Amino acid sequence: MDTTVSNEDFLATVAEKSHGAALRGDYASADAQYVVQQDWAAYTEEEHALWRRLYQRQMALLPGRACNEFIEALQGLNAADGIPQFEATSKKLEAATGWTIVAVPGLIPELTFFDHLANRRFPVTVWLRKPEEFNYIVEPDVFHDFFGHVPLLFNPVFADYMQRYGQGGLKAMQLGGLDQLARLYWYTVEFGLINTPEGLRIYGAGILSSGGEVEYCLTPGTTSRHIHLDIKRCLNTLYKIDTYQETYFVINSFDELFEGTAPDFTPYYEELKSKTPYPANSLLDGETELLPG
Ligand code: PHE
Ligand code: CO
Repeated sequence: MDTTVSNEDFLATVAEKSHGAALRGDYASADAQYVVQQDWAAYTEEEHALWRRLYQRQMALLPGRACNEFIEALQGLNAADGIPQFEATSKKLEAATGWTIVAVPGLIPELTFFDHLANRRFPVTVWLRKPEEFNYIVEPDVFHDFFGHVPLLFNPVFADYMQRYGQGGLKAMQLGGLDQLARLYWYTVEFGLINTPEGLRIYGAGILSSGGEVEYCLTPGTTSRHIHLDIKRCLNTLYKIDTYQETYFVINSFDELFEGTAPDFTPYYEELKSKTPYPANSLLDGETELLPG
């Protein structure tokens, strides 16, 4: 399959969807797969200092909240001292699970994104947020992409899940199932929780790189739901992009996630086409709140 999307087409689509707002990355030097050089030497000392502050803030929050797989892999990355060099981490990652890191200017077309994942390449944005965006950022930056996503790619089962997600994305594009499949990514890769003998833990990158949601998502008694992940239910659930999540889907293990997504989704997309999606804060008949107030 031809998986190239021209720069002009992509930027025009983004401009259209965002009513003229442009992406902030530099796309001029990107190749056909939107890959750029990281140019590590160009980061300023202020940027490395901001990275350290972000890193320290998260590390103070993560013990007892992030899953062990994440914390252990992160510690092996030596990323506390400044923005990491992707090359070095990519080599370690390749030795561990066969994944590599590629540098990208920012958001990239869906087709390109899926193609990278399907080939075990994880795209990481090169630029870092501004100091005034310490707590909140609209587009993913290098801190979210690297700190949030890269550690779990060292877990063999999660790594396989991500590849299969990429393959599933290419397929969903042909079946008209993209909206549905994107919800699964959101509620697992970005905002997923996992049940462990010690209690609920976070594995979703969107939470792990966020200052506020790490604590919020595990606090009993909020208005948010914590329910066991049912794949079809998740595919049919809307999500919020500008507030904390109103539902967190909980898995029991990465194996469960991997096996639950093994079936052919074609009939799921077919069935869901005619259904109204559930609002982000639904609790359906038979569902149990796993973190009661
Ligand atoms: N099994 C899904 C399909 O056939 C693809 C998929 C795999 C989706 C893993 C998400 C995660 O479409
Ligand atoms: Co992300």
